[in-house]
Amino acid sequence: MYSEKVMDHFSNPRNMGEIENPSGVGTVGNAKCGDIMRMYLDIDENHVIRDCKFKTFGCGAAVATSSMATELVKGKTIEEALLVTNKAVMEALDGLPPVKVHCSLLAEEAIHAALWDYAEKNGIRIEGLQKPKTDIHEGEEEEEY
Ligand code: FES
Repeated sequence: MYSEKVMDHFSNPRNMGEIENPSGVGTVGNAKCGDIMRMYLDIDENHVIRDCKFKTFGCGAAVATSSMATELVKGKTIEEALLVTNKAVMEALDGLPPVKVHCSLLAEEAIHAALWDYAEKNGIRIEGLQKPKTDIHEGEEEEEY
């Protein structure tokens, strides 16, 4: 049911963890299943993503998509990172079962939320980036969990 790549990224997730003093951080949740993903970005002065780490409290597909998403955005500019959509992540993983497609949305949303945080902190606008709808703030998260 899962591709070898999904199983590999689920069993050996890349870039799992935190970045201290990240350039941007975004946390998103899936209201239906309650799974949560947090993405940390380290971005240099040329707007290139030097490092990316994630923490996911969720299903295997969410872990695998976060892992692949971090691999895909590393080394990209913030504009290029916007092209790392859930579709791109799924393709890189050789697909996901249809019932798991929604899990891959978390990765895309978490990247966007982290980029939004970076843009806000630096007073810049990233062309094509929408304000994240599902960003969970620390306080709210602690109340809920
Ligand atoms: Fe919740 Fe996959 S079931 S993200």
